[in-house]
Amino acid sequence: MKESISIGLLGLGTVGSGVVKLVQNHQEQLVHQLGCSLTIHKVLVRDIEKEREVDIRREILTTDYKEVVLNPEIDIIVEVMGGIEDTKKYILEAFQAKKHVVTANKDLIALYGSELQDAATANGCDLYYEASVAGGIPIIRGLADGLASDKIEKLMGIVNGTTNYILTKMDKEGLSYETALQNAQKLGYAEADPTADVEGLDAARKMAILSRLAFSMNIDLEDVEVTGISKVTKEDLKYGDMLGYTMKLIGYAHQVDGKAEVSVQPTFLSKNHPLSSVNDEYNAVYVYGEAVGETMFYGPGAGSLPTATSVVSDIVAVVKNMRLGVNGKNTLLPQYEKNLKKADERLAKYFIRLHVRDEVGAFSELTKLFSAYSISFEKILQLPLEEKGLAEIVIVTHKATMENYQSVLQHIRDLSVVKGIQSFYRVEGDGLK
Ligand code: NAP
Ligand code: HSE
Repeated sequence: MKESISIGLLGLGTVGSGVVKLVQNHQEQLVHQLGCSLTIHKVLVRDIEKEREVDIRREILTTDYKEVVLNPEIDIIVEVMGGIEDTKKYILEAFQAKKHVVTANKDLIALYGSELQDAATANGCDLYYEASVAGGIPIIRGLADGLASDKIEKLMGIVNGTTNYILTKMDKEGLSYETALQNAQKLGYAEADPTADVEGLDAARKMAILSRLAFSMNIDLEDVEVTGISKVTKEDLKYGDMLGYTMKLIGYAHQVDGKAEVSVQPTFLSKNHPLSSVNDEYNAVYVYGEAVGETMFYGPGAGSLPTATSVVSDIVAVVKNMRLGVNGKNTLLPQYEKNLKKADERLAKYFIRLHVRDEVGAFSELTKLFSAYSISFEKILQLPLEEKGLAEIVIVTHKATMENYQSVLQHIRDLSVVKGIQSFYRVEGDGLK
């Protein structure tokens, strides 16, 4: 075993700088754990002249990826630059050059995780990606190691900090969606173009990665149904609150009888559910295992040092494998063929908010439609609206199949008593399963 393990960094931005700081500041502890030191040997950046917030020698910066990826001195490539196609190419070349790879890149792992894992295994190399989901929370390791002996039935995640911040501010401070989003951008949580965050794509990528591990099934990104939070209103939150719910962007993954479903959508969570108290930019993942029951992993989902903690822990895992001579053997290849639930196998409760003519027989029209599709009401709220002759009606259903729920939504507009559907959301968290 070498006295020092050499790291090649691809990227020296928010996460890359955190990695350099951790490797420098925690060196003594790392040497104790690993029996060798870690050295940042070469770093790929776009602009060598840029002022850096870390203490790093300019000579080790380069704009030529080959000086890092194909460098014979380097043992481990740490990819914290982002991007997809070029980045994938660099990582594949790194495996061919027999280098282990640690990445924080959820976009890449969600799209090409299986292909990269195959390439790593074929070359006897490790691929670790703890930081790709929920920044500083060790959820990948939690699923792959901590809960390895259990059968995961359900996983629910608040895995996007930007949207959790926005929904928290709308809920607790009464801010509009637009103002809360502007604040998230000022604080640096949301990107300049926040589309991937607010439309749920960032969370969908993370849920594809988590559900693959939880169910040991090759769930693809396109298998994750996605709805973002951009249409959520303060009125929705107000009526949800009256009925005992908090709104969160929930990544939902469930399996029963070997069939899985995965989605990301704004969801009304019962205030009793542990995820309902996860506020601001924090992330959390709730996992229900057949044997263990309920568990929850909570912490910062992003940020320089929290994310770097996960990256450096992955480096530690690679070096420990090097000591044991087991690199490339720690594969997380799926055990089962992909098997997704059909619409008539997907069960949930739903919240539907309507504007209805306040006249005799209005409710019976609604009841007839819902009964025709075997959906019964669990909670009902009716309030008069300022516009004369109209009422606000909020219905929370008992569990219904997605097929029946979609049929009701399609036909409800045809009822003469219904003036409009204001909103509709999934409801979760009243029971364990
Ligand atoms: P960032 O601050 O924008 O840093 C990116 C770094 O990569 C910069 O140093 C940049 O060089 C370099 N870079 C980018 N494209 C390059 C290219 N084509 N060639 C050479 N260098 C290039 O990004 P970040 O926030 O650290 O995120 C990095 C990765 O971590 C992403 O995959 C992200 O999704 C993931 N991640 C981030 C967080 C977080 O909290 N930020 C959390 C979890 C996961 P210059 O400095 O010269 O511009
Ligand atoms: N944009 C992401 C978020 C960053 O808001 O959670 C961490 O992946």
